[in-house]
Amino acid sequence: MSLLVVNASQVATPLGQGPACGAAQSRVAVFPQAVVRCQGETIAFVGSLEEHDRLFPPPQEVLDAQGGCVVPGFVDPHTHLPFAGYREDEFDRRLAGETYAQIAASGGGIVKTVAATRQASEEELLRLTLRRLSRQLLHGTTTTEAKSGYGLNTEGELKQLRVLQRAAQLQPVEIIPTAMPAHEVPPEWRHNPEGYVELILQEIYPAIAAEGLAQGVDVFCENGVFSPEQTRRLLAPAKAYGWRIHLHADELFPLGGAELAAELGALSASHLLHVSPQGIRALAQAGVVAVVLPGVSFFLRDRYAPVRDLMAAGVPVALATDCNPGSSHTESMATIMQLACLGAGMSSEEALVAATLNAAAALGLAHRLGSLEVGKQADLVVLDAPNPKHLVYHFGVNLVRHVVKKGRVVVR
Ligand code: NIG
Ligand code: FE
Repeated sequence: MSLLVVNASQVATPLGQGPACGAAQSRVAVFPQAVVRCQGETIAFVGSLEEHDRLFPPPQEVLDAQGGCVVPGFVDPHTHLPFAGYREDEFDRRLAGETYAQIAASGGGIVKTVAATRQASEEELLRLTLRRLSRQLLHGTTTTEAKSGYGLNTEGELKQLRVLQRAAQLQPVEIIPTAMPAHEVPPEWRHNPEGYVELILQEIYPAIAAEGLAQGVDVFCENGVFSPEQTRRLLAPAKAYGWRIHLHADELFPLGGAELAAELGALSASHLLHVSPQGIRALAQAGVVAVVLPGVSFFLRDRYAPVRDLMAAGVPVALATDCNPGSSHTESMATIMQLACLGAGMSSEEALVAATLNAAAALGLAHRLGSLEVGKQADLVVLDAPNPKHLVYHFGVNLVRHVVKKGRVVVR
């Protein structure tokens, strides 16, 4: 199968096989009026139509960009997609002045979603997850990470991850599943958090690994959740299972999560609202990708992660939705880019690189995804806009006109 995308105002893309940091974080290559040829699942050509026609036979299919620009499909490297139940009541309570922590302490927060997710049947959870994936796709996301962490027992975690495995077969968005039984200590273990850590190590991880349901593992390292010492133990078996390491780090309190991510060889560290200067240096030295989640800052009316300090230190910054019912309820990467620019101070180029190439790097997939280059997977988005600056400049609307995943037009 061959597909040719024609009549684009421009093709705009980061370039590279790995994360872009420092000055490269703002480098977006622009190919005016270029065409993109997809051959099977792969990009075969980016350049002028004349050169294309000299080098290739006519394509089997043509997609007319109608003067819109073409960018790589977005990669969302941090979500909590398979959840049941909503928490709009907490949204109102926050508007009235309560904090996320106060609401969690009074029985709301993660445990409320845990109860609803445990109660949901696998079919219901699949239905909800598919609706979110479809919204992601319509907003230009072609690959998404997705975590468990609302089961918090063997059965519940397996159910969430099985849903992701089934969902991957039923729709075009590629899913990178992450095991996160260490998202919170469930109510039945509150008297004995150490017992829950042991349950994860002895029973939950082995069960997940036995079914091959995860590619990575994540821990919420936070005051009152999992300590740095517990986090070390929870991540120690990752290598043996072949899981990539991710960390929820320095979200509510500067606990040294970034330093820990560097020490443990994590691929990514997320949140980082309270990252310390030493933490930033450690991330840079270890080459950990900082996954910044400005949706959470916006939704919880909290501070933004110090993205300018991170980038100045040479840390590659990626953006993600953190899509979840409590702290960032959105599937839209463009919305996240808008917040990254208007709230956290990124430039539109930095935000585009963060939502594509660096987001792929946060999942260890930058060799295959995140840019429009010959040999990479043919995942792209045609925008109803002349250039990608409109993704942040024209805010609050969905500019995605077409989506191509693995060389197939999946949004027409
Ligand atoms: O990434 N930080 C911890 N977990 C989620 C929030 C989950 C929830 O509130 O349900 C997060 O923000
Ligand atoms: Fe999260």
